[in-house]
Order: sequence, then structure tokens, then C-alpha cells
Amino acid sequence: PRPILLTRHGESCDNVRGRIGSDSVLSDAGELYSKKLANFIEKRLKSERAASIWTSTLQRTIITASPIAGFPKIQWRALDEINAGVCDGMTYEEIKKNMPEEYEARKKDKLRYRYPRGESYLDVIQRLEPVIIELERQRAPVVVISHQAVLRALYAYFADRPLKEIPHIEVPLHTIIEIQMGVTGVQEKRYKLMD
Ligand code: F6P
Repeated sequence: PRPILLTRHGESCDNVRGRIGSDSVLSDAGELYSKKLANFIEKRLKSERAASIWTSTLQRTIITASPIAGFPKIQWRALDEINAGVCDGMTYEEIKKNMPEEYEARKKDKLRYRYPRGESYLDVIQRLEPVIIELERQRAPVVVISHQAVLRALYAYFADRPLKEIPHIEVPLHTIIEIQMGVTGVQEKRYKLMD
């Protein structure tokens, strides 16, 4: 069985400030994670010559992948974080204060809520289809370095979790979720590399 390793990018400066979306670089903790991740991946996939590293097109995932040596890296726009549209770069507090109707609408139906000029979880799930098809076709391990909303959707697909749970699945920072697909079904391991 070949593993799929899912991880969010290392903590970004916007994560620290509580700002959603955008395209910031990593915090010091995030930089440290990128090194620990590289170490982990290089050991875990040592004899896996055909393995590959998939990132989004946002710099926080590309920077997180950068210390990993020895494997090809592929950027997918479909792995970019949910597009928060007019709310991109805001904190949840700012959205609540300045756009209370939007805040409430999202709280009520996070799965279907679409940010004005942005995306919903359902949109994200749909655009991930080609990524999932390609992941299913791979014979070798794949490391996916992406973002919270996207990884919730990918994880739910492989772990067979219901649609309505997707926006609420826990995908913490600095943690690798390893999924193994074998004959007896799907097995999962989590590696927390930092506190
Ligand atoms: O806060 C990090 C982040 O990846 C944001 O960029 C994104 O908007 C958010 O998480 C998605 O999580 P939620 O759907 O819970 O707001």
C-alpha cells in the first residue's frame, strides 16, 4: 500500500495575525516546521524513488516544501486555499463587525456559504475532483502540502466522512496525516511534529 501524506503549510504570518486567505510567508515557527517536515519526509520516503510533493500555488506551501530534497514538486492551483473573496485578508472579528450578515450566513451553513466574489466549501470540493483523480492514479506516495479548507475536503474523501462534517474537521497545523489505502480499507496515522 502506498501512503498519501497530508499537511498544512507551516504557520504563516497571517495565521499569527488571525487573517484569512491572502499570501503571506511563514512565521519562525512555520519555518521550523518546514525543516522538521523535510526531515520526516526524507526518512519516511527514503526508498520511494517515484514519490512526489504537491503544493498549492501560494507561497506558504511552496516555502514549506522548499527544504525537502530529492523529490519532484508539482504546483496545483486546485490546491489553493478557499477563496474568501471580499473577506480575503480580514480576521473573523472584522467580518463579524463589518459584515455581520455574511458572518451569520456562514455560521448557519458553512458548507454552502459562498463568500461574495469567492468560494464555498462545495466549490472547493468540486475543484478538487481532478486532484483526487490524479491522486487515485498514483502508484507512488504523494505528499500534499495545502491549506485548512482544502485538506478538510481531501481528508473527508479518503476517510469517507460525510459532506456536512467537512467544514468542521480538525486539521491542525504542524501535523502530518498519513493515509494508507490497503485491501482492508483506509488506515490513518497522525504525526504531530511540533507543539
Ligand atoms: O485561517 C487559515 C485558513 O486557511 C484561511 O486562509 C481560510 O480562510 C480558513 O483557514 C478556512 O477555515 P474556515 O473554513 O474554518 O474559515
